[in-house]
Amino acid sequence: MDLFEAIIKRRDTRHFTSEEVPSSVIDICLQAAKNAPSVGLTEPARFLFVNDAATKQKIHEIFEAENQKAADKITDLARKEAYNNLKLQGIMEAPLGMIVCSDYSTIKADTIGVQTMAEALDWSVCCSIQNFWLALTSQGFSMGWVSILDVKKLKETIYIPDHYKPLGYFCIGRPATNYNNMPMLKQQGWTNTR
Ligand SMILES: Cc1cc2nc3c(=O)[nH]c(=O)nc-3n(C[C@H](O)[C@H](O)[C@H](O)COP(=O)(O)O)c2cc1C
Repeated sequence: MDLFEAIIKRRDTRHFTSEEVPSSVIDICLQAAKNAPSVGLTEPARFLFVNDAATKQKIHEIFEAENQKAADKITDLARKEAYNNLKLQGIMEAPLGMIVCSDYSTIKADTIGVQTMAEALDWSVCCSIQNFWLALTSQGFSMGWVSILDVKKLKETIYIPDHYKPLGYFCIGRPATNYNNMPMLKQQGWTNTR
């Protein structure tokens, strides 16, 4: 698969088969992530993997609580119902889970680019995440980004060093669908922006 095809075919995936993700697939993704640009060459992306059901269950509970809060904010009843019908994660089904963090200990007094824009560290991690995602896609796998989480509770649930800032939980596996080659939110009529 060439680069442009991977960019076009990449999907945020919430529906997975039970097929395990070979470690050789993840090795290639980590190599792709490491080759992303980063502010001041800090290389701040840190990848924590989750593969036990008990931890996934705890993270799923954090998602459920935050998802309920998000639904409660929607006043339009039809829209609220549509929101509640969306599947916005595959935490329990995805064979592999991952938390990607920005490592703030990479910022030193002389680090280029972050003295004025500290957020550039997180942007750098997003570049790594996108490379990881494209590398998964090119190997026939995919992932889904879960941002509907309480970071404080996440840090209470599993050990994450203080200087790591989680940017999301990622559900990784073999996609069970490609949502008719379009974003799921479009396929399901939630939004029509692309
Ligand atoms: C920073 C970020 C956070 C996201 N969080 C969620 C999420 O919590 N749940 C979800 O279902 N999708 C989430 N998404 C996926 C987007 O909804 C998705 O990328 C968008 O609808 C376009 O679809 P596509 O990625 O398949 O092209 C997130 C995407 C990004 C970039």
